[in-house]
Amino acid sequence: MSKLWGGRFTKETNQLVDEYTSSIQFDYLMAEEDIEGSLAHVSMLGKCGILEASEVELITSGLKKIRDKVRNGEFQFSIRHEDIHMNIEAALIEEIGPVGGKLHTGRSRNDQVATDMHLYLRKQVVEIIKLLHQLQEEILNQAKKNLDTIMPGYTHLQRAQPILFAHHLMAYVAMFDRDIQRLQDSYKRTNILPLGAGALAGTTFPIDRHYVAEQLGFARLYENSMDAVSDRDFIIEFLSNASLIMMHLSRLSEELVLWMSSEFCFVELDDAFCTGSSIMPQKKNPDVAELVRGKTGRVYGNLMGLLTVLKALPLAYNKDMQEDKEGMFDTVATLKGALQLFAPMIASMKVNDETMRQAVRNDFSNATDIADYLANKGLPFRSAHEVIGKLVLYCVDKNLLLLDLSIEEYQSFSPLFEGDIYQVLQPEQVVNARNVYGGTARNQVEAAIARAEIEIEASKNNIAF
Ligand code: ARG
Repeated sequence: MSKLWGGRFTKETNQLVDEYTSSIQFDYLMAEEDIEGSLAHVSMLGKCGILEASEVELITSGLKKIRDKVRNGEFQFSIRHEDIHMNIEAALIEEIGPVGGKLHTGRSRNDQVATDMHLYLRKQVVEIIKLLHQLQEEILNQAKKNLDTIMPGYTHLQRAQPILFAHHLMAYVAMFDRDIQRLQDSYKRTNILPLGAGALAGTTFPIDRHYVAEQLGFARLYENSMDAVSDRDFIIEFLSNASLIMMHLSRLSEELVLWMSSEFCFVELDDAFCTGSSIMPQKKNPDVAELVRGKTGRVYGNLMGLLTVLKALPLAYNKDMQEDKEGMFDTVATLKGALQLFAPMIASMKVNDETMRQAVRNDFSNATDIADYLANKGLPFRSAHEVIGKLVLYCVDKNLLLLDLSIEEYQSFSPLFEGDIYQVLQPEQVVNARNVYGGTARNQVEAAIARAEIEIEASKNNIAF
């Protein structure tokens, strides 16, 4: 069976070479994009008088028939034709005869594959942004429901200061907001047309790249044909954005795993998002959260992989670049899979607010507030810190909490203490005292939620990115 490029060869390719060099096993995922690009290309060839109108019509209807077959799952992808581009072209020639061979006029697989990947990623990024918006909305809904849920906030995983659970959740809404902005920004560098760059230097045919860009909805053209066929920055940017999103999801996963444990018992994930143990009947494991945390590794790996593939490649196209695809497809699937599960998992999460509040009551996370209390009465904060340090030591020694001490005990540490200290130490008071923009006071968190709602709406309507 001769190859589309077989003219210069006198021997069949070694079977192992065919298997080793082919990419159809994974690039069939771009069949739709490959045909879309070809339809725009052939339409341009007609418009520029490079092909006859009748030829354009034949090729177009042939491509559409192939597209139907792909959509119905009837198309037979074969490694005989190496990659998606030659699979489609060979099928076209089979469908309409030798005139199908005119489709590749003024084009190379190098600008074709780049175009396919721009089309593919552009579409995926839009879907990923939608999934991120959905996740933000579910987190925001939980935040609204938990405006009165007080929990310990942690540093060094030691109880630090009481916070609202809503405040903790809103931190993730902010992270995903930055992730969306990064995707929207790099979209600009994905929405550029390589086609027309030919193999590397352009083409001798009088093509119209602007027309093709318009057909395919690309905002700009690559300025330089060498760059057009060599650029994989847009994929690296995507993999890097995806790594950040996975890192954020992984941190949230880690918190869910901790909060689900009997040691914390702060939240319960719905049965539908947990799995059991084959030996320990009592177990309910947060497998989805753990697996998202685990899959973060492969996304980082895909980023490192492609950076490494490209680092020493001379211009322009090199076959090494075929290694750009599996990591991209895998990252898209991994990220979408995680986001699709996370939104409903967060929505169905039950919050044990009594356990959270109990954790706040049983600790020293209000200690900063007594230091602030003394500082407000004129004692330098550093000295106040020292006094409270001693006070905490005294409590630890006697197995008491700050609210258990008598006023006489307080006053033995500083004459500045008065009866109002007990009010200052109440968890609600401690939370609401952080009444600063971006702080955990209830009214600040409410304002933050309102701002985030506006931000998410604006981001959803931002179609110009
Ligand atoms: N399957 C190839 C790839 O993914 C398409 C481009 C092939 N170009 C070439 N000059 N061999 O990179």
